[in-house]
Amino acid sequence: MVTTSLADAALENLLALAREAAKRSYSPYSGFRVGAALRLTNGEIVTGTNVENVSYGLTICAERSALVTAVSQFGPDIRIDAVAVANLNEAASPPCGACRQMLSEFILPDAPVIFPAADGERTMPFSAMLPLAFDMKLKS
Ligand code: THU
Repeated sequence: MVTTSLADAALENLLALAREAAKRSYSPYSGFRVGAALRLTNGEIVTGTNVENVSYGLTICAERSALVTAVSQFGPDIRIDAVAVANLNEAASPPCGACRQMLSEFILPDAPVIFPAADGERTMPFSAMLPLAFDMKLKS
């Protein structure tokens, strides 16, 4: 018998929302369609997708797209307690370094991050994903 814990089910749901978001990707240059879903401590879920630009470097990743949407919708005090990333290309796609740094500003260290790895979905706590994030200690 296969049992699924409540935590697993919640992450699976977040992953499904990330996949839905990936369908809205604007990625004519890479063809790589990525979606991200953030669960906030206020109970809200916010999604984002990658939006590319002909000036390639201006592209925004799905994770940062979700993050700026979350702050825009719910304000600067949001805290993220789970992240899911998906792509429609059947490829590995852990969040890139820039996205990890941006997430680090708002995410709880123990928050699980689920993402496509080479051998299927992988989940790890955010703190394992970005040790030594840059921080100027300007916040009290
Ligand atoms: N991309 C993301 O959306 N998230 C990442 O963490 C890495 C890469 C996007 C950016 C670009 O549109 C495409 O994937 C190929 O790099």
